[in-house]
Amino acid sequence: MTAVAIVGAGPAGFYAAEALKLADQTLEVHLYDRYPMPFGLTRYGIAPDHQRLKAPAQLFQRTGAMPGVRFFGGVEIGHDVSLDVLRSTYSAVLLAHGAQADERLTLNGTTPVEVRTAREMVAWYNGVPDIPADDFNLQRQHVVIIGNGNVAIDIARVLSRPVNELAVTDISDRALLELHRSQVRRVHLIGRRGPVQARFTTRELRELGELPGVAVRLRPQYLELGAACQTELDHHSGDQARRNIDLMRDWATCQTHPDSYRELHLHFGLVAEAMERDADGHGQLLLRRMRLVGAPFAQRSEPTDEQIRLRCDLLISSIGFQVISLPGLDLPCSPGLSHAQGRVLDAQGLLIPGLYVAGWAKRGPSGVLGTNRACAQETVQSMLADRSNWPQPESGAMKILLDRLFAGDIPPVVWEDWLHLDHLEKEIGRAEGRPRIKFDDMNKLHDVLRKYRSSKPRAE
Ligand SMILES: Cc1cc2nc3c(=O)[nH]c(=O)nc-3n(C[C@H](O)[C@H](O)[C@H](O)COP(=O)(O)OP(=O)(O)OC[C@H]3O[C@@H](n4cnc5c(N)ncnc54)[C@H](O)[C@@H]3O)c2cc1C
Ligand SMILES: NC(=O)c1ccc[n+]([C@@H]2O[C@H](COP(=O)([O-])OP(=O)(O)OC[C@H]3O[C@@H](n4cnc5c(N)ncnc54)[C@H](OP(=O)(O)O)[C@@H]3O)[C@@H](O)[C@H]2O)c1
Repeated sequence: MTAVAIVGAGPAGFYAAEALKLADQTLEVHLYDRYPMPFGLTRYGIAPDHQRLKAPAQLFQRTGAMPGVRFFGGVEIGHDVSLDVLRSTYSAVLLAHGAQADERLTLNGTTPVEVRTAREMVAWYNGVPDIPADDFNLQRQHVVIIGNGNVAIDIARVLSRPVNELAVTDISDRALLELHRSQVRRVHLIGRRGPVQARFTTRELRELGELPGVAVRLRPQYLELGAACQTELDHHSGDQARRNIDLMRDWATCQTHPDSYRELHLHFGLVAEAMERDADGHGQLLLRRMRLVGAPFAQRSEPTDEQIRLRCDLLISSIGFQVISLPGLDLPCSPGLSHAQGRVLDAQGLLIPGLYVAGWAKRGPSGVLGTNRACAQETVQSMLADRSNWPQPESGAMKILLDRLFAGDIPPVVWEDWLHLDHLEKEIGRAEGRPRIKFDDMNKLHDVLRKYRSSKPRAE
């Protein structure tokens, strides 16, 4: 039997598992994930009010049920099992561990109000189970989000959407509770460049204008474009930006929202510099106004003399993610691990036999779910082409590893466990008219699993 291990049961891991099995049904494919539940950011990233976008999970569900595919949830490679052990146990190891760190926002001096990252907020509202229920306090009126990507938009939307609309989604119960008490009245989205360079997609932007009770505001001056921006917009690659600008022009010229109880402000060309408290004890974010200089598509931001202040009770940095290497590998990642068609290269640019990479860990933290399919397929093609040169695993190593994992206090979550949890989540959700209610508490999750396992003798 030839067995391959995949580190990370997110989209890239599942697309790779599918491609491996379609190419050779006799391959054993073992997916390891540090979380007990599979599907990565499909489950823990995509916003709860975007259920439709989670559809690829149905395909992953079918892949997970294929004979010869096994799932080991709650096993962190580099912590619970070293990468060396994994490599000596399997013929090949594919890294699909995503981007597990944040780009860091730097502010001068101390920050008197809470500064959090998009990763933390998304994990909290999506029910990642190792997070305290009260991780976010929304008893604040003014929230500032730094970043002009789709993640920043997701967060702005979740903070602004009427709670009754979120209550019919799979948002975590802990977030729902806090959103019921939310005092948030004003959300600012801050881009460091102009509206033409914003990364968000039009569909996501448009949704902000459709939120009941929410007024989207922006200064018309932001839409007075310089010649270089106009050239970028007129270029055939500027379709999305053009649609965004048209939408924002509508918002900028039609600014009466008598029924709104929340405001969502879009800002451009601003860089956060520091935070202070005003005489009333409120946080104030100091931002530098920037201007774009240079030729089209090569414009850079330059600081101006103008500084502005925004009241800020909670600052969320949504400026992108970072791929990090796994412990024991310690390779630079910029933006992903260095590779040749998915074959991992060492610091000298030499191939590391039997080690592969796919998804965000390969390309860096950009691209939607579907992007990972072609990416994983490319890697799988390289794997299959190399197959005769794969290192020989140590004999008996697989049994030793699995015996050790299943003898531990908390045995891995296997596919059958997941199917049970999935069924329960959906069943509990159905009773409340929701797609599912996620187990977002690790202790509760393990209690449920213990009960299930004890009710069902099984051979492992
Ligand atoms: C907040 C957010 C919202 C998004 N919304 C959308 C959307 O609406 N639509 C869309 O198409 N795309 C969306 N995306 C993009 C999409 O989620 C990514 O393209 C995709 O998830 C990347 O897949 P991946 O498998 O490379 O990484 P991930 O989805 O991050 O999966 C990596 C997996 O590896 C596991 N892992 C990490 N380290 C280890 C380890 N040491 N040992 C074992 N397991 C490990 C993680 O737990 C995770 O399950 C969003 C991304 C983010 C961040
Ligand atoms: N609905 C969806 O389909 C959906 C939802 C969420 C996420 N996603 C995808 O997931 C990927 C990740 O999204 P993302 O929003 O995290 O990343 P992103 O699209 O790369 O956006 C990051 C934003 O942060 C800004 N930024 C970076 N460094 C900064 C700094 N130091 N100071 C201020 N601003 C800074 C960037 O500005 P610059 O442009 O100036 O660098 C950019 O506006 C994207 O491919 C996205 O499309 C898709």
